[in-house]
Amino acid sequence: MEDLDPTYIQAPEHRSDSNFIPNQPEEIPVIDLSRLDDHDDVQNVISEIGDACEKWGFFQVINHGVPCDTRQRVEKTVKTFFDLPMEEKIKVKRDEVNPVGYHDGEHTKNVRDWKEVFDIYFKDPMVIPSSTDPEDEGLRLVYNKRPQFPSDFRETCEEYARHAEKLALKVLELISLSLGLPKKRFHNYFKEQMSFLRINRYPPCPRPDLALGVGHHKDADVISVLAQDEVGGLQVSRRSDGVWFPIRPVPNALVINIGNCMEIWTNDKYWSAEHRVVVNTTRERYSIPFFLLPSHDVEVKPLEELVSLENPPRYKGYKWGKFYVSRNRSDFRKLETKNIQIDDFKVVT
Ligand code: OGA
Ligand code: NI
Repeated sequence: MEDLDPTYIQAPEHRSDSNFIPNQPEEIPVIDLSRLDDHDDVQNVISEIGDACEKWGFFQVINHGVPCDTRQRVEKTVKTFFDLPMEEKIKVKRDEVNPVGYHDGEHTKNVRDWKEVFDIYFKDPMVIPSSTDPEDEGLRLVYNKRPQFPSDFRETCEEYARHAEKLALKVLELISLSLGLPKKRFHNYFKEQMSFLRINRYPPCPRPDLALGVGHHKDADVISVLAQDEVGGLQVSRRSDGVWFPIRPVPNALVINIGNCMEIWTNDKYWSAEHRVVVNTTRERYSIPFFLLPSHDVEVKPLEELVSLENPPRYKGYKWGKFYVSRNRSDFRKLETKNIQIDDFKVVT
């Protein structure tokens, strides 16, 4: 048995064998977006998306419009970067002033993840609140880190992010229609969007039974658009019973999942699922999520159109930017107290 640093060890109830039943016949839906070209099929696609958001909070899309060559280029350039020696990578290490760039010690729920990451803001510079204090209206600008090598890193990642954002907004329109809302209901929320692209590299791990690539968590965003390679390891917890299901790598598909903002806007109609990444002893794995996030001043609370006397709001509102800056302090190190969670905004009944 190889030693594993104890900071990586998951509690027994969160390890990869917990609540996992292999070879289940069911899986999250794979939806072909080219069907939107067929007038007679559009409504079916919209309701399939709505059903997937309710039941799983996850689905995959194919024929989604993100060009294959753009994706292949980004996959190649990020691999070149992560293969560099550590001295190079830490030149673009993230810090508390600009919380993006390279990082190899993220904590999810206070346990260390078996991965390396590189984060890139979609807007550079990006506007965020300057403090976590709700009374303080001050804002500041944060900037991307740019590796010197490989030289095409920045352009390639930015190009991919532009396509991912376009797809995310298109899926958002479909989600909006599936809720009976106008197509562009959410549009104004993204004027100064805080979206970012993340590159995850999961190295082979000596003890995949004890550690996880990413521990169980929900994404805090609106929706995520994730490209995963052919290795596999992403799992989603089923809404009805919490059983973990693998998300099968489908060539050129993108995985879409609902984040906390959408869950709250829909007053829990749509589900932000817990998910995690299982690692393995032999193969490294890459994934590239694009997290669609609103502008800092957007209020995240159940939409008026979706609440009623029978279905009262289940959450108090919060300002997206304030949540982000509070949350971000905790990714750097193990905190003594529990990280801020969406449940902190639940209405107690
Ligand atoms: C994440 C995440 C899944 C994956 O980065 O939030 O859930 O497959 N990643 O890497
Ligand atoms: Ni996630």
